Amino acid sequence: MKVRKAVIPAAGLGTRMLPATKSIPKEMLPILDKPAIQYIVEEAVASGIEDILIITNRGKGAIEDYFDYAPELEVSLKHSNKMSTYESVRHPAQMANIFFVRQKETKGLGHAVWCAKRFVGDEPFAVLLGDDIMVGEKPVTKQLIDAAEKYNASAVGAQWVSDDAVEKYCSLKIEQLEDRIYRMFDVIEKPSPEKKFSNYAILGRYVIKPEIFSILENTPPGHGGEIQLTDGLRTLCKQSDMVAVDFDAKRHDTGNLIGFMEATMDFAIKHPEVGPWLREYVKKMK
Ligand code: UTP
Repeated sequence: MKVRKAVIPAAGLGTRMLPATKSIPKEMLPILDKPAIQYIVEEAVASGIEDILIITNRGKGAIEDYFDYAPELEVSLKHSNKMSTYESVRHPAQMANIFFVRQKETKGLGHAVWCAKRFVGDEPFAVLLGDDIMVGEKPVTKQLIDAAEKYNASAVGAQWVSDDAVEKYCSLKIEQLEDRIYRMFDVIEKPSPEKKFSNYAILGRYVIKPEIFSILENTPPGHGGEIQLTDGLRTLCKQSDMVAVDFDAKRHDTGNLIGFMEATMDFAIKHPEVGPWLREYVKKMK
């Protein structure tokens, strides 16, 4: 089982980051010197992915421009001999084969993934949520791909989360197979405390078999009136093998203000120039 394709859903409305996201896609907000979505594409590429489909919608054209060349800017940078900036500007257009499709109506994550049906065809594919940045030694998508290949199964990225977070995300019914890998039997979206299976929740990364598409076609709107990917996975994990990988990485949900600030601070503190300055600056803050 080889995973060559990835889908990055980036068609959400980003209401938690308004008003900034009124006219800028939240995926384009910078974490230090790069837009959030570049970190996601980098993870996919580092995991061996060759083709990436970004699901966008109206008002997200800046994402397409970012992964294209910018000839006038590039000529100007070359003339001024700003070669490292020139390279950084060209790099996003050269990272992978990047495709785009629009989700014409914001009908939920499950519907967004369904929009990738023709791109994916009949092979397993990775899904990386456009606002979850993972920081760890081994790319999280690669951790999932390895587990999916080993067990010939679909795989979801999961971690143990607080009771509050379970109610916000989902809850997994699982049984341990080996260190960090669990067989997944069931999942419930945003459960009330008495309905939860465990405190393990899916966080932003998936490797899914293509059977999900026919399932999503028949998945009715769930929580919030949206077609939920979790509901589709619930059906899939009962039909074919699925594992949950307790991935080894720190997750930043950059789609909310605190998560966005945490990611910014984490990247800044590790940066060779910005890091030392930031430490001094924070010490002086009142
Ligand atoms: P979120 O709920 O985190 O993103 O969806 P959102 O809807 O953009 O943000 P808020 O809640 O309004 O602040 C999880 C992922 O699913 C994508 C989002 O872009 C995000 O990557 N998504 C969600 C879609 O692509 N389409 C949808 O219809 C809904």
